[in-house]
Amino acid sequence: MAKVLPSFVCQNCGAAYNRWQGKCESCGEWNTLVEENAAGAASVPSSLRPKRKGRAFTLESLTGDTQDAPRTPSGVAELDRVTGGGFVRGSVLLLGGDPGIGKSTLLIQATARMARLKHRSIYISGEEAVAQVRLRAERLGLAKSPVELAAETSVEDIIATLSQGPRPVLVVIDSIQTMWTDTVDSAPGTVTQVRASAQALIRYAKTSGATLILVGHVTKDGQIAGPRVVEHMVDAVLSFEGEGSQQFRILRAVKNRFGPTDEIGVFEMTGLGLREVPNPSELFLSERDLGTPGTAVFAGIEGTRPVLVELQALVAPTALGTPRRAVVGWDPSRLSMVLAVLEAHCGVKLSGHDVYLNVAGGLRINEPAADMAAAAALVSSLVGAPLPADGVFFGEVSLSGAVRPVAQMPARLKEAAKLGFKRAIMPEQTRGDGGGDAGLVLNAVGSLTELVAEIAAKGKKPRDNEAQLRRQDRG
Ligand SMILES: Nc1ncnc2c1ncn2[C@@H]1O[C@H](COP(=O)(O)OP(=O)(O)OP(=O)(O)O)[C@@H](O)[C@H]1O
Ligand SMILES: [Mg+2]
Ligand SMILES: [Zn+2]
Repeated sequence: MAKVLPSFVCQNCGAAYNRWQGKCESCGEWNTLVEENAAGAASVPSSLRPKRKGRAFTLESLTGDTQDAPRTPSGVAELDRVTGGGFVRGSVLLLGGDPGIGKSTLLIQATARMARLKHRSIYISGEEAVAQVRLRAERLGLAKSPVELAAETSVEDIIATLSQGPRPVLVVIDSIQTMWTDTVDSAPGTVTQVRASAQALIRYAKTSGATLILVGHVTKDGQIAGPRVVEHMVDAVLSFEGEGSQQFRILRAVKNRFGPTDEIGVFEMTGLGLREVPNPSELFLSERDLGTPGTAVFAGIEGTRPVLVELQALVAPTALGTPRRAVVGWDPSRLSMVLAVLEAHCGVKLSGHDVYLNVAGGLRINEPAADMAAAAALVSSLVGAPLPADGVFFGEVSLSGAVRPVAQMPARLKEAAKLGFKRAIMPEQTRGDGGGDAGLVLNAVGSLTELVAEIAAKGKKPRDNEAQLRRQDRG
């Protein structure tokens, strides 16, 4: 008879071992192994499990009659933008985010909106009592919406309740870490429990056709706590982010089986709940320090939407042996590359300087198109010359120091013009890039050296713009 081996499961990545050890070999974390008895399947010896003969099924071809995944818009436009146009029937979403960022607020608003559109919507809280959820709804002015509410943590009870009455369109489980199922003996919150609970709830969603949203907590380092495995089980992983001190909240899709992953939804946290921000550029530029050296406005693209955002740089002589490089909201290796190009090709010596770069408003940029804006902000801070307040920057910088064209230039220019900017400092336009200049003065830059010379000239002799004008005429 097979002996049931003890099983030690890493609470970080879900890897299982048959003896305890200090470090998880699969993810490298220390002290994350916890003894869990994965009952159910694992503890029943295979010889005792009922034998079942396989059933043959028909294989299909790729072409055939299939409708588009039917979607139900939530009515919260910024949320629909991120999911790809609404909730797909029978799909499961995982929403992660720091404690207190507003996950419950977002979901109670979405359920209320759905319920008002006559879609049966159910909100199950494992963290808060019904009274607490009601209080929040009251504060948000949603108390009258026909949302069905419960404070429950037993997966079996939840599924039994959901199976009664008409099929719900949306079910929110806040949060998956508080759920537990009878099928395994581990404590709630352990990887085995979370995984088994998620499995049962996902099975319910797939068979019933309801859309299921699971809330997941996030650890210090930004991972959805405990089970990375749940991320693989669900159809979409959404992450709700924001700076604690600021009111902006950004929703992005980390994974999405039914839509794009590059769209962001922007919200503002107010006393009346989350307000949708249909035009994020206005928000990100609302607190600009005009005329200070070290700031540049970057005309970026997030998904299909242009977004203007301010990059702030500080370059200061270092007091330490090794200068500091700190960056918030952008890729640190991208910053290192821009610094290396500035040193190697443009004669900008930064080895004796600390460098800080910050993307305003808590936005996180992934585009290489931000290279030129970052470089401009850095040089501007170094020489103490403010950049033109009515200009936007974009362009990718190559290792040779050349400024390369980027995608969707007309959309960037149009957004800049809409927000009152007068000129764009940008790569030379390629021929296929028709679409107009949106009425802006286009200042084409071929190499980073040109840009640096232009900014540096203003730093030394603010009044003498003649040399610079001549350069522009040639360019
Ligand atoms: N009376 C209030 N007025 C304005 N804003 C409030 C008020 N009460 C709470 N908030 C905001 O709502 C946020 C909490 O939102 P919510 O409970 O939705 O977060 P959460 O992500 O679900 O947190 P948790 O991880 O604890 O479940 C607070 O951080 C605060 O910004
Ligand atoms: Mg909550
Ligand atoms: Zn691990």
